[in-house]
Amino acid sequence: MSTTQKKPYYITTPIYYPSGKWHLGHCYTTVCCDALARFKRLSGFDVYYLTGTDEHGLNIQERAKAANKSPQEFVDELVAGIKDLWKLLNIDYDGFIRTTDPSHKKIVQGIFKRLQDSGDIYKSKYKGQYCTPCESFWTTTQAKEKKCPDCGRATKEAEEECYFFKLSKYRDRLLKLLTETDFLEPKTRVNEMVNNFLKDNLEDLAVSRTSFTHGIKVAGDEKHVIYVWIDALSNYISALGYDPTKSWEQQPPKVKKYWPADLHMMAKEIVRFHSIIWPAVLMALELPLPKKAYGHGWLLFDGDKMSKSKGNVVDPFILSERYGVDAIRYCLLREISFGQDCDYSTENFLNRINTDLCNDLGNLLKRTTAMSRQYFDSKIKKPKKGEGTEFDLDFTKKIDGLLKEVQVKLDKLELSRALEVILELVSNANKYIDLTRPWLLAKDKAQTSALNAVLYNLLEALRVVATLLMPFIPSTASKIFDSLGLDIPTDFKNAKYAKTATYSTKENEPLFLRLDVKKELEDLELTLNPNGTAKNEVKSSDKKSSNNGEQSQPTQITIDEFFKTQLKVAKVIAAEKVEKADKLLKLTLEVGQETRTVVSGIATSYAPQDLIGKLVVLVANLQPAKLRGIESQGMILCATNSDGKPIIVTPESIVASGVEVR
Ligand code: MSP
Repeated sequence: MSTTQKKPYYITTPIYYPSGKWHLGHCYTTVCCDALARFKRLSGFDVYYLTGTDEHGLNIQERAKAANKSPQEFVDELVAGIKDLWKLLNIDYDGFIRTTDPSHKKIVQGIFKRLQDSGDIYKSKYKGQYCTPCESFWTTTQAKEKKCPDCGRATKEAEEECYFFKLSKYRDRLLKLLTETDFLEPKTRVNEMVNNFLKDNLEDLAVSRTSFTHGIKVAGDEKHVIYVWIDALSNYISALGYDPTKSWEQQPPKVKKYWPADLHMMAKEIVRFHSIIWPAVLMALELPLPKKAYGHGWLLFDGDKMSKSKGNVVDPFILSERYGVDAIRYCLLREISFGQDCDYSTENFLNRINTDLCNDLGNLLKRTTAMSRQYFDSKIKKPKKGEGTEFDLDFTKKIDGLLKEVQVKLDKLELSRALEVILELVSNANKYIDLTRPWLLAKDKAQTSALNAVLYNLLEALRVVATLLMPFIPSTASKIFDSLGLDIPTDFKNAKYAKTATYSTKENEPLFLRLDVKKELEDLELTLNPNGTAKNEVKSSDKKSSNNGEQSQPTQITIDEFFKTQLKVAKVIAAEKVEKADKLLKLTLEVGQETRTVVSGIATSYAPQDLIGKLVVLVANLQPAKLRGIESQGMILCATNSDGKPIIVTPESIVASGVEVR
């Protein structure tokens, strides 16, 4: 089918605030949307998957100032970090919008102007309560006990001239949208919105600020910056090239093709913006409304929302490096019942990898390819009618029914249940091996065709399972196809039983290695401990240094003084001799997202080629210094052995580069 004939499907994540510490919570929404986008693509839809970053506001302005950077420079670095994260997690997005994109800014100004022209935006004075972190105005009734209804933090008195959006005008239509359609899900969120915001009264919304400058200015009244949420929500149409000066009929083809969005996905704390403010703005713009907004639950840490400001975040880079991207994708998608909150537990994640991915899926593939080789030299053919065992009909029906079952779950956005049914088939396949006992069939020549049929059925199960796992764990699915000797399918058309004529299988490396959960937890303790309170105590040295024959203690420093030194794990990615310097090596280090050059006096102990891949400890905040004309951006820690040679200090087991050493 050509792209033009395909049905469009437009799915979005929230656009994230640029953060220095991207965590598993951010990954959750993006991985869920990625799985849904991939599922739709394989189901034959023309998908547009949009994500991006929300880069304006007082918070960014102040953080940039503290970092001595312009807001643009500041966000550019952070945005590069999130793009790296999405690449690592194999996120196949079609569009990445930044609210600092000039095209977005122009469209938002145009939207504001259009709403001014239609009378939906008017200028007036605000008097009430203001929540600085949320940049939100509230009336005294809304901000009960002077607390922000959104974040619960204290508000302060405020009076300001600003622009208002006539939200009140749309109350009845919004109430209908929420209560009479399936626009907002899950339904519990509808009750929250209606009871907390729509039931009694809906106030007009202050949509400009004069308290900061880093944002999109109101055209013709530059003292006013457009409210960050009007700016942010508009991303969903600006990314398609919406033209606010034109009618619907005259919109660019991309807008007409993908708008209205099929699904806006987010977590519950921003449902109000997506289910009240955004539809009202669209009503005012006379644009069709999105088909669905879904507010999923939170990934919690110790019962609290995982969030950078609370310092309780789990680092996806570290987890992916240790266990692989698909293990992380799988755990996020399987462990969390979609829509509900879930307390993060590394132990549960590791157990999930062991049970589902290693024991069930990995073993099934290993056993099946090994038996194919052992009994049929890896060549298995489609059985003829009547060949097989009494257990086949039941099993093959399950293979045949899997696609439908997964479709039903995903149509209801039940991602975790979808994976559950796929893994149910894997476990059925393992049981089928126990029931049919191929090793006994192999002993009886008369049973050769039955044995071939059993293996064929197992391979078919694996093929259909791998096809349906493609949206969730794409790399693993590809590895399975490789073992089955098949090309990776481009759609779900053949996700049915008996679609393969012959198999020529391969025995590859195991899909997932079994983890020693206890040991892993111990190893992870120091690197993942989200509060940064490493359990190792800093031991004071027992050594006494000699000074004029007197025994004296080395100068003691406080823990705060020690923490001024920023130590980080770094990985050597390149090393070479420094010309005319016998002792020096020039090292290129990977420090998380960063690359550093360090000149180190270790050439007497190490050959450059032996250092590649080695983990070292870097003093990361040392002032740069020039050594033999090369700028050395830090120093690596070494001990001196009994021969007086430098020996690199390295972590005892593998940890991700960039991780702090304390
Ligand atoms: N910039 C706004 C969104 C504007 S959309 C027009 C924003 N950004 S955010 O960086 O705070 O991202 C919030 C979103 O990140 C949540 O709605 C959710 O999708 C995701 N999550 C961040 N932390 C999360 C958890 N701990 N758990 C689940 N999702 C999380 O709000």
